[in-house]
Amino acid sequence: MLYPPTALILAPISGYTDIPYRNGAIRHGCAFAFTEMIDDASLVFGNKKTLRFLERADNEKWLGAQIVGSDTDTLSKAARIISNYNFDALDFNLGCPAPKVVKKGEGSALSADYDRALKAFEALRKNSDMPVSAKIRILDDKSPEPTLKLAKGLEGAGACAITVHGRLAKQFYSGPVNHDIICEIRKNLKIQVVANGGINSRQKYMEMVSLAGSGPVMLATGAMGNPWIFEEIEYAEKFTPPAPRQVADEMEKHILETCEYYGTEIGLRISRKFIFDYMKGRGYPALLKNQVIHIKAIADLKSFICEIRKGPSDGYFKWLEKNPGAPRKIRHP
Ligand SMILES: Cc1cc2nc3c(=O)[nH]c(=O)nc-3n(C[C@H](O)[C@H](O)[C@H](O)COP(=O)(O)O)c2cc1C
Repeated sequence: MLYPPTALILAPISGYTDIPYRNGAIRHGCAFAFTEMIDDASLVFGNKKTLRFLERADNEKWLGAQIVGSDTDTLSKAARIISNYNFDALDFNLGCPAPKVVKKGEGSALSADYDRALKAFEALRKNSDMPVSAKIRILDDKSPEPTLKLAKGLEGAGACAITVHGRLAKQFYSGPVNHDIICEIRKNLKIQVVANGGINSRQKYMEMVSLAGSGPVMLATGAMGNPWIFEEIEYAEKFTPPAPRQVADEMEKHILETCEYYGTEIGLRISRKFIFDYMKGRGYPALLKNQVIHIKAIADLKSFICEIRKGPSDGYFKWLEKNPGAPRKIRHP
C-alpha cells in the first residue's frame, strides 16, 4: 500500500505546494504531500524554475512528485529524470482543467481519451524507478461507468494508487462533490483509492468517509491559509481553532520562509495570495485586505502582521456563535 489506510494527503497545487508551503502543513501534522504539477517538456528542457520543483527538504518524510504531459516520448524522458531524485511516488496528472493544459491535450483532456491516457501512463510507469499513481476527476456525474473504466484501466496498467477528485473538469475546483462515484471506484479496485474534493473541515471529512467509504483522503483548497485542518481532522473535538496571534505567527513564518526561498521581492509578490488565504473566513476587515497590495518590504509585512495579531472585526465572534459549523475559524483571543 502506498499510504497508511487513513492518510491525510496534501494535494499537488500549482503555485502553492513548494517547500515553504509544505513546511507550514508539516508544522500542523501533515505527513504526506506532493509537489505542484511539473510540466514534462519543461523538465526535459531543463527549465531552471521547473527543476526547483524537484527540491525536497530534510524534514519531508514522504513526498510525491506530480507530472503533467501527454507525449509518450517526453513523459518517458521526464520519468527517467525524476527517478534520479528523492521521491516516494510519481503521480500522473489526468485531471487538470486549466486551459493552458487542456489545449495541449493533457490533464483532464487526456483523461477523456482512454487509449491515449493509458499509453501515456504506461510510458511513465515503465520509465520510473518509483511507484506510479494517477490523479483523475470523475468523467460523468450521472453514471460511474466512464470513470470506473478509466480507473480500472489505470489499475491494469500498473498504477499503485488512484486519486479521484469527485468533480467534473467543467466544475474546476468548487461545487458539489460526487461521493457515490468515488465509493463505486473504491468497491471495484484492489489498489488504494484516495478520495478528493470539498474537505475543508472535520465535518466535511466525516461526510466524505461516510459517503465514499474509509480510505486515504487528499485536500487542497481546505488547507489554503488553513494548515490547522490537519490537526482539526486528527484531533476531532480536542482541536481548538487558532487564536489571532497564532494565525499571525503562522502567516509570518510562511511568508518569511517564502522570501528566504525565492528572495524578498519575488517572495513577497507570490505571498499576496497566501495572505488573503489566511484572512479568508476569519472576519478580518475588507479595509485590511486592501492594504495587502502595499506590502513591498519586510518592514511593511511586519506592520501588517501586527494588524492580523489584533484579530477579526467586531461582530465576527457573534456571527460565529450563529454559524458554529463554519470552516477555518479563529478563536477568541
Ligand atoms: C490553485 C489550484 C491549483 C491546483 N493545481 C493542481 C496541480 O498542480 N495538480 C493537480 O493534480 N491538481 C491541482 N489542483 C486540484 C487539487 O489538487 C484538488 O484536486 C482540487 O482542488 C479538489 O480538492 P479540494 O476540494 O480539497 O480543493 C489545483 C487546485 C487549485 C485550486
